[in-house]
Amino acid sequence: MGIIDTHAHLYCEDFSTDLPDVITRAVNASVDKIFLPNIDETSINQMLSLCAEYPGLFYPMIGLHPTDLATDYKEVLDRMEQLLEQENDFIGVGEVGLDYYWDKTFYKEQQEAFERQINWSLKYGLPLMIHTRSAHKELIDILKPYKSKGVRGVFHCFGGSEAEAKELLTFEGFMLGINGIITFKKSPIPEILRKTVPLYRLVTETDAPYLAPTPMRGKRNESAYITYTITKLSEIYGLSVGQITEQTRKNAMTIFSKATE
Ligand code: NI
Repeated sequence: MGIIDTHAHLYCEDFSTDLPDVITRAVNASVDKIFLPNIDETSINQMLSLCAEYPGLFYPMIGLHPTDLATDYKEVLDRMEQLLEQENDFIGVGEVGLDYYWDKTFYKEQQEAFERQINWSLKYGLPLMIHTRSAHKELIDILKPYKSKGVRGVFHCFGGSEAEAKELLTFEGFMLGINGIITFKKSPIPEILRKTVPLYRLVTETDAPYLAPTPMRGKRNESAYITYTITKLSEIYGLSVGQITEQTRKNAMTIFSKATE
């Protein structure tokens, strides 16, 4: 039983020249499932063809990333929802959420798009892959009314405070997505995990090509580097690499129940 990378964008341009090598390295590093959150309309075909080429390794999601929202977002979401209405292989709705770090132009629109996609998650019985940056309060405000409705998923790329971790964990159907940032020298996240986050509430991810862990920091990230994150988790929780792999895999499969076979 191998490692699951619950969040990677291996279909994107950064991997166009050496993807087979990237995949070989991932498999050699014991990664045996890689979940692919979508970004926008232009990424769907590449993502789906990658999944068709490597069945049982790659699993697609559908959704509109909050930083890729434009004035036509309603039509884009209409077309994405048509894909959900047809027979499909999507294992989740993602990546969706709120990002007010760089740009608040679509402040309200981001919230509307997010809420619509939360409703897809419930309607189609798929977990959410949620991205939030500089928007913790807005996230909680939008998600709270859905708490009792069985909403589930991953708070991807957890990088918040201890209080924020505690608040996120009150959403019982959710895991925190943990990636290479826990290996960064001054990261406060390891201490927050140790104090606040039980191992059964987290999943591992890379967010490749972004956020490469130490000692690859600054380089293009890829799924094989998830082993640095697993090793760091084994230090944090005082368990073996095998135990971390097994538990985080179980957590990921609890959320992404469609990613079997
Ligand atoms: Ni992402």
